[in-house]
Amino acid sequence: MLKNIAVLVSGGGTNLQALIDAQNDGIIKSGKIKLVISNNKNAYALERAKNAGIDSLVISKKELGSQDAFEDELIKKLDEEKIDLIVLAGFMCILTEKFTSHFADRIINVHPSLIPSFCGKGFYGLKVHEAALEYGVKVSGATVHFVNEIPDGGKIILQKAVNIEEGDTPEILQKRIMQEAEWKILPAACEMVCKNMN
Ligand code: GAR
Repeated sequence: MLKNIAVLVSGGGTNLQALIDAQNDGIIKSGKIKLVISNNKNAYALERAKNAGIDSLVISKKELGSQDAFEDELIKKLDEEKIDLIVLAGFMCILTEKFTSHFADRIINVHPSLIPSFCGKGFYGLKVHEAALEYGVKVSGATVHFVNEIPDGGKIILQKAVNIEEGDTPEILQKRIMQEAEWKILPAACEMVCKNMN
């Protein structure tokens, strides 16, 4: 049986696109993307879902008024759709233990650095690459890991290193890490986890 996958997004959705492409190319073959959820109604990721014929919906923490209500609504929809695996693909919201324990070992996230460097609370999006360049590391990369109640603290599934080059800006580095690492290891990890799931 194919596992039901939900992808949670907040912005551009290039990682969602990589998952859609991997599904079309047969790289993801043990699961199927059933649902895309965005916390942001303006996320371009919603267009990508629509273009691929995947159901999507917006669940806004702002509109629901609290973290508790936000997580209740997410859990309700994910359970209703019988989701087996939740993929956080550029999802810029912290999830508490209430959510992560409800879906223990069934949530994965892509983070744009080699964990345990440049991760945890406050490290997201371009901020991660700014911190890496500021520190002066020569290698960065991406990590896919299981999600528990500790931000970026769950078990690592896959990592890929990417060299930093002379003249890199946060934007240039972000793009290189996406192309060379994130868009490859996220679909690969997604397939691995679906395949190994009971
Ligand atoms: C990606 O680089 C992803 O790794 C990062 O945000 C970007 C989203 O891009 N996620 C985090 O920083 C989470 N801590 P996308 O919307 O184009 O996939």
